[in-house]
Amino acid sequence: MTRNLTSGDITADRRSEYAKMLSENGDHAAAADLMAQALELVPNWAAGWFQLAEIAEKGGDRDRTVAALHKTMEFDRNDIFGAGLKIARIEGRTPPLPPSAYVAELFNDYAARFDEALVEKLNYTVPGKLAALIRNHVGPGHSFFDAVDLGCGTGLFGAEIAANCFRLEGYDISDSMLARASAKKLYNHLARADISRPPEQSGLFGQPRRADLVSAADVMMYLGDLKAAFDNVAALIKPDGVFAFSVEKAGEDAGFELRSSLRYAHSETHVVTALYGHGFETLATEETVIRTDAGEPITGLLFLARKT
Ligand SMILES: C[S@@+](CC[C@H](N)C(=O)[O-])C[C@H]1O[C@@H](n2cnc3c(N)ncnc32)[C@H](O)[C@@H]1O
Repeated sequence: MTRNLTSGDITADRRSEYAKMLSENGDHAAAADLMAQALELVPNWAAGWFQLAEIAEKGGDRDRTVAALHKTMEFDRNDIFGAGLKIARIEGRTPPLPPSAYVAELFNDYAARFDEALVEKLNYTVPGKLAALIRNHVGPGHSFFDAVDLGCGTGLFGAEIAANCFRLEGYDISDSMLARASAKKLYNHLARADISRPPEQSGLFGQPRRADLVSAADVMMYLGDLKAAFDNVAALIKPDGVFAFSVEKAGEDAGFELRSSLRYAHSETHVVTALYGHGFETLATEETVIRTDAGEPITGLLFLARKT
C-alpha cells in the first residue's frame, strides 16, 4: 500500500476534495461530515479515514480524531500513515519505536523535494556541523578507511564527509531516498536497511566491526528507544572507531519523548548513558539549532563518541 489518496470511487474522491477545501477555509465540522459521507461510499479507504482524522484534529474533535485513526489502522495494517503514533501522542503515551512502514513511506513521499525543503526552507544544518565536529576531532586531513552513513537519505551528510573517506557506504529505510543518494555518486555502496531492527535483521551488509566512522545525521529522531540502533552501530564499528550523530534535544527529565511532529527527542543524559551501555565514551557534545519547524527553531544535540 502507498499513501495514494484516491479512493477508486469518483464521488468519494470529489467529496474528499471538497472536504479538504472546506477544512482549509476553517469549516472543519462541515468538512468532517462531508468526509464521513465519502467514507460511507468507500468504508475501507484507509487514506480517507486518515484525512477525516486530520480534519477532525484541526477542528479540535478529539473523539472523532481517535476513532478515525483507529479506522485508518484497521484498513492499513502496516500503519504507513503513523496513525498509531498519533493516537499514542493524543493519549499521552510514548511508543518505543515508530512503525517502520510509516517512516519508509514518509521519506519515499519526501525524497523528491527533500534537499530543497530541508536546506533552503528549513535551514537544516546538521550535515555541515556534524562533519565539522568530526574534523575538529580527527584533524582536517584525516581519512577514514570505511565509513558507514546510517539513514544516509539523499546524501547531504555524505557530501560533507566523502572527501575524508576512502570508502563510504550508505544505508536507509527509504528506497526513494537511496535513489537520490545514488544519483549523487558519493557512496561506494548503498542499500536498504532498517536500524530499528536488531543487527541480524536490520539488513546492514558486510563484515562486522569494520567501520572506523559511523554516522547518523538527523536519524535518531525517527527512533525512540535507541537500543537496536546502537546495537547495529556497535556491531559495525571497530575499536576506537568514531560514531557521530544528532538528536533533537529533550528536557533532562524526559529520557525520550514523542513530539507533536511525530518525531522523538532525547535528553543528553539518556543518550550518554545509552552510549556508555554500548561501550562508547562520549568525546564531544554540541548543542545547536538543527533546523526550523513551522518557523520555530529546533534545538538539537550533536554527539561524537568513540568505541572503547
Ligand atoms: C531527516 S533525514 C536525514 C538524511 C541524511 N542523514 C541527511 O543528513 O541529510 C532522515 C533519514 O533517516 C532515514 N531513516 C529513518 N529511520 C530509519 C531506520 N529505522 N533505518 C534506516 N534509515 C532510517 C530516513 O529514511 C531518512 O532518509
